[in-house]
Amino acid sequence: KVIVIDFGGQYNQLVARRVRECNVYCEIYSYKTDLEQIKAMNPKGIILTGGPNSCYEADSPTYQKELFELGVPVLGLCYGAQLMMHVLGGKVEKAPVREYGKTEVSVNQDSPLFRNVSKDTICWMSHFDYISKTAPGFEIVATTADCPVAAAQNLEQKLFAIQFHPEVLHTQEGTKMLYNFVRNICGCAGTWRMDSFVEHSIEEIRKKVGNGKVLCALSGGVDSSVAAVMLSKAIGSQLTCVFVDHGLLRKDEGDEVEEVFGPNGPYELNFIRVNAQERYYTKLAGVTEPEAKRKIIGEEFIRVFEEEAKKIGAVDFLVQGTIYPDVVESGLGGESAVIKSHHNVGGLPDYVDFKEIIEPLRNLFKDEVRKAGLEMGIPEKLVFRQPFPGPGLGIRIIGEVTGEKVKIVQDADAIYREEVDKAAKEYEQQNGEAPAWMPNQYFAALTNMRSVGVMGDERTYDYAVALRAVNTIDFMTAEAAQIPFEVLQKVMSRIINEVKGVNRVFYDLTSKPPGTIEFE
Ligand code: XMP
Repeated sequence: KVIVIDFGGQYNQLVARRVRECNVYCEIYSYKTDLEQIKAMNPKGIILTGGPNSCYEADSPTYQKELFELGVPVLGLCYGAQLMMHVLGGKVEKAPVREYGKTEVSVNQDSPLFRNVSKDTICWMSHFDYISKTAPGFEIVATTADCPVAAAQNLEQKLFAIQFHPEVLHTQEGTKMLYNFVRNICGCAGTWRMDSFVEHSIEEIRKKVGNGKVLCALSGGVDSSVAAVMLSKAIGSQLTCVFVDHGLLRKDEGDEVEEVFGPNGPYELNFIRVNAQERYYTKLAGVTEPEAKRKIIGEEFIRVFEEEAKKIGAVDFLVQGTIYPDVVESGLGGESAVIKSHHNVGGLPDYVDFKEIIEPLRNLFKDEVRKAGLEMGIPEKLVFRQPFPGPGLGIRIIGEVTGEKVKIVQDADAIYREEVDKAAKEYEQQNGEAPAWMPNQYFAALTNMRSVGVMGDERTYDYAVALRAVNTIDFMTAEAAQIPFEVLQKVMSRIINEVKGVNRVFYDLTSKPPGTIEFE
């Protein structure tokens, strides 16, 4: 395997991901990890990541010189490159010109790092320090107009330093460079696949859990489902999954989760479904402020879960389906601000009697989680489920939440999803590919506006439903999806005819920013 040593850069998980894409297994460790520990892992290669510091400052993250004397190939990226030079006797200083963005780099194609890379290639730069002098034994193998050492190597000792970021897709041939490093220079076989990840994780879980008891909060979403199945495969009936039906799920979703994970489903585990609908509706009565609703829903979840956990008694481990973007969005993995009190990262622990947390998906991106899910035979319907927020329909009903409103939004949403899916499938059958407008997330929400309408000669005074559909890659920014008008019209007429209490349907055109994807 390859070890990635983390110096706090924002692209570290991307480095790991690119290495996995070369079919090479890798793990990320903090720069504080002991050299002995790293040696003991017997890595085939080591990658030092970028980071926000200046390596010549006294308290900046560093690593002892012996790391470079293991005989194991080392690749330093950005901060990692500067650190390598600094530690080995080169010089790093504040750069006269800060480089940021896409930059043309000319590379020496004789370097094994740049095999099959074009002589002039566009790379992503982001640095304010620069290597002004390479360490003894190094030769320069890439330069830019402003940066005399864009890359350097010491072939004999298999040490490589790259000032730019090959892991970022803006570096057009970055994947090739990383491939050259892990596959050719480190000599990794490239036999790692998602199935190896699954197998490896299952084995690790077995070792870790022994005959301990494990508790998992199952939401029925992709992440917690994949985590639960992985645990079930590893330890079977030592696992108990608690599924809280808070009455804010999509139509029939509670039953669908039970079908897969319950006693009639294919997995070995103890499944507990808690029907807490009424409790939630009582708590939410009269509450209209979005963050207050979120807080109540979150706290009530903890209370219900705690009650169930008490019945089970002490457990050894608690499973969470945390995936890498959760870690980042919660402000634990990077500097990004928390916009909404999103995910359960770091939540729960005080309320349940357990010793340790297991997060088997913590290092994976969403598409990798889905791959792992498919690998384990989880139904596609579940694996490709669109994201659904923890507070559920509670934040898709503007204003007070009531059982009656939940029913309205559930029914409208089910019609919307049915029609969009149908239209998308038809398109795909005719054209051999999914339509460009296919939203990455779409749902119906209930506005708190009522308006006058006319239906069968009668005056109505009913709710307006809003349809939301967005195209997005990372859910941080989004555009309204261009669902064909006739599809929307069909949805509108079905909702008004079939869902009692609705007499108007809106389509939300707002992009994010300034809007958010959800309504609250
Ligand atoms: P926003 O509304 O912030 O949504 O643009 C971005 C993505 O995050 C989901 N989302 C949530 N997920 N708990 C969650 O687990 C929440 O409170 C929450 N709020 C938004 C949203 O569905 C979208 O995919």
